[in-house]
Amino acid sequence: MNRLSTKTILHVVGARPNYMKIAPLMDALRDVPGVRQILVNTGQHYDEAMAKGFIRELSLPLPDRDLEVGSASHAVQSANVMIRFEQVCLEERPDLVVVVGDVNSTMAATLVAAKLLIPVAHVEAGLRSFDRTMPEEINRMVTDRLADILLTPSPDGNENLLREGVPAERIHLVGNIMIDTLFRHLPMATLDRVADRVRVRERGYAVLTLHRPSNVDDAETFRGILSAIAEIACDLPVVFPVHPRTQARVTEFGLEDCLKNVQVTGPMGYIDFLSLTSHARLVLTDSGGLQEESTALGIPCLTLRDNTERPITVSHGTNTVVGMQPANIVAGYRAAMRQEPSSTRRPDHWDGCTARRIAAVLQRHLFG
Ligand code: UD1
Repeated sequence: MNRLSTKTILHVVGARPNYMKIAPLMDALRDVPGVRQILVNTGQHYDEAMAKGFIRELSLPLPDRDLEVGSASHAVQSANVMIRFEQVCLEERPDLVVVVGDVNSTMAATLVAAKLLIPVAHVEAGLRSFDRTMPEEINRMVTDRLADILLTPSPDGNENLLREGVPAERIHLVGNIMIDTLFRHLPMATLDRVADRVRVRERGYAVLTLHRPSNVDDAETFRGILSAIAEIACDLPVVFPVHPRTQARVTEFGLEDCLKNVQVTGPMGYIDFLSLTSHARLVLTDSGGLQEESTALGIPCLTLRDNTERPITVSHGTNTVVGMQPANIVAGYRAAMRQEPSSTRRPDHWDGCTARRIAAVLQRHLFG
């Protein structure tokens, strides 16, 4: 390695599911000599509970750049990230841009970097739902097409990328970086942290999250899901930390009645939410990350979608894809209640050491 050369890595975060993926990587790269790290926060999410709270809680450094793009249509939001991120790249001249996940900020930053001929590393590459009605599927496809270093969480990611013609030498199976963050914070995740907001007993409740446009933006679909939840809540207490998009739809569609037996809270911070999920009997969700976290925790998970881009959580974990039909959700619930929580099954490389593996790949790329 040339001792005199310093390489600049520019990390991009923007939305709630990004922070827990960048935090362990920045930590691991801190020990690599000759690396200067810059954190760019696009501001796709901006509420304290959706963004800044995570930065503090996960001990991320304060962002060097805040792009403050805020909420807008997909085109406007992505375009604003592009315009502002291009300026940052021109000023900082990074040797590598790191993007994570599949949100609009991920795709927009990748497009900018690729056009400036700056290499891009994509953490969580290769996932596919094969459902283009999901905005994230478009983001995943564009990002992976343009990225130079594809860091996959599971072998299905490698298979998808190889099938799409990505050269094998660009693909690195590194495992799931979110699980690094999960293991790091699990000892702090005790139920008494959330006792001021919810009344629950160890393994005596379900946690629900919903925010996908396909589930909450259509009144009939959303009402159907909540009717199934109301039925489940007669049997097992349900806790529902509500995403801002979802809260807006509950009010717009007048669905408050369906939630009268459900313990509704605002969005939670990372450790509080982990406290809730890690002591639950069951998780019901349309989130991608939560399918993975419940698999790592050994807690049964019902995915309220027609498909998943994370099939390993079904084949090697605790996840069952039940769709959005009320009868199927309730049937899934009954089957899941017969399934015991177990921490014995976990995909390979979901071991808390993914950030170290990624740091090694990036170090080889930068310094040879
Ligand atoms: C985005 C991601 C999704 C991810 C999710 C996690 C895309 C296409 N979608 O969806 O993949 O799973 O984040 O939350 O990138 N809002 C607030 N405060 C905030 C942020 C949003 O009130 O801090 C409200 C706004 O009304 C906004 C709406 O939530 O219009 C949706 O936010 P947006 O970032 O557009 O999409 P998400 O549904 O959060």
